[in-house]
Order: sequence, then C-alpha cells, then structure tokens
Amino acid sequence: KQALSTQALGRVVDFSDELSSTNDRAKELARQGAIHGLTVLACRQQAGRGRLQRQWESPAGGLWMSVVLRPNLSLADASKITLAASVAIVDTLQELFELPIGIKWPNDLVHKGQKLAGILGEVVGEWNTVQTLILGMGVNVNFPREQLNNTFPATTLQEILGFDIDLNLLAAKILENLEKELICLEEKKFDELKSKWTKRAIGLGEGVRILRGEDVIEGTFKGISIDGALILETGNKEITFSAGEVKLRSKKGYF
Ligand code: BTN
Repeated sequence: KQALSTQALGRVVDFSDELSSTNDRAKELARQGAIHGLTVLACRQQAGRGRLQRQWESPAGGLWMSVVLRPNLSLADASKITLAASVAIVDTLQELFELPIGIKWPNDLVHKGQKLAGILGEVVGEWNTVQTLILGMGVNVNFPREQLNNTFPATTLQEILGFDIDLNLLAAKILENLEKELICLEEKKFDELKSKWTKRAIGLGEGVRILRGEDVIEGTFKGISIDGALILETGNKEITFSAGEVKLRSKKGYF
C-alpha cells in the first residue's frame, strides 16, 4: 500500500477473502455512496463474471479487482474507460516484467495466443443521474493454468514468468497507470489512447470473422473508431460493431 502513488484510485480499499463478484460488491458500495476510486479486492470470487454473460473463473492467487469510478465524462466518453483499462494493464506488465501483451478487441489481454486478463465495465443506474461506472479487472496471476477450465486458451503470470508476484504491487501499478489514462480521457486526449490501444491490437489488417448471434460476417479488421467500436471492411464498405453485440474470431486461429 505504501507503494501507491495515486490521487483517488485505490485510496479506499474494500478487501474480502471471498466474494461472489467484486463487481457486484462495488455496485453495492456505489449505491451506498462510495467515493470515486474506491477499490474492491477479493482473494477468490465464487461467481466471477465475464463479458457476454460468461463466467470468469477466479481461484485464489488471481487479481480480482473492481474500481468505483465517478468520472467527469459523458456516457459516450465513459465507454472508452475499458480501452483505457486494457492499456493500463498492458503498460503495467510491460513496465514490471517487459512482457509483450496483445489486446484482442475489445479488451482481452493475450500473451502468445492465450488469455491472461479481462475487463468488465458496468454502469450503475442511469448514467444521466448517477454517472457511476464499475470497472472490473481480472488478471490470472499466481496459480497454474490447470486451475482454469475455460473454453478458450488461457494462461497465468505464474506460467509465463515462472515465479509468483506480489498482488498488492501489481494492483498498485495498474491503478497508477489507470489513473493516468483516466486523466487523459478527462482532458479529451482520445487519439493518444486510441493509438496506444492500436499499437497492441491483435489481428489488425487481417481477415477476421465477426459473430453476431447466428450471423457470421467476414472482412478485414481495419481498426477501431474513436469510441472503441471495431471497424470491419467487407467488399468496398466499412461496418462498425460495438463490443456489446458481437464476438471477434481470427481466420488464423489464434482466437
Ligand atoms: C472478460 O474477459 O470477459 C471480462 C472478465 C472480467 C473479470 C473481472 S474479475 C474482477 C471483476 N469481477 C467480476 O465478476 N468480473 C471482473
């Protein structure tokens, strides 16, 4: 904790041995008036949640963290916070361990084709009145990958690095980088965020498939729009897809 150099994020911490989901706990605290930056941490989650109604396995040794954010942003700009979080985690792993982490749109963090971390942003109540967002971040850290029986290939920092790391230090560094990105967002430096995200994007310029319900749409992954939607080129037109509605698959088979 003494290593934390943020203004707001992680200044108040709600720590539990076990929770159903840190996002749910953060929502509850937000409804009770939690301040901007309050951070919920749990050693284990019994019902960790991923995007698109998926479950997120959360054994002891992982970093399961949710931050209550009351940022000075419009709803449209607040949707960029999950991009900011993926950049913050990527930068942290680069700085601490020189690990090259890619981002699979919209914000899966991937090492050599295996998922290492994910982000789940949720709005609390009506954005117009409450303006509160819960930013959940899950990083597979100090446990072997066998403890995950995911449908997708996954890895952990223990597998990659060969040793265990200090979860508090990792959390502190992520919160510091996240706070920097949030300040950039509030200053409307969107291009900077977009270019950091794009530098790490997996599959850019390649042929991909977009799954929307039963539909499969094929095209070339051209990039992201300023609010993080995926831009797909098919034939001679461009279509954008927002993260809430579709899944991305590569034709090369790495995700
Ligand atoms: C995804 O990749 O689908 C998002 C995974 C998000 C997992 C984190 S762990 C902390 C927070 N609490 C949850 O229940 N989910 C997020």
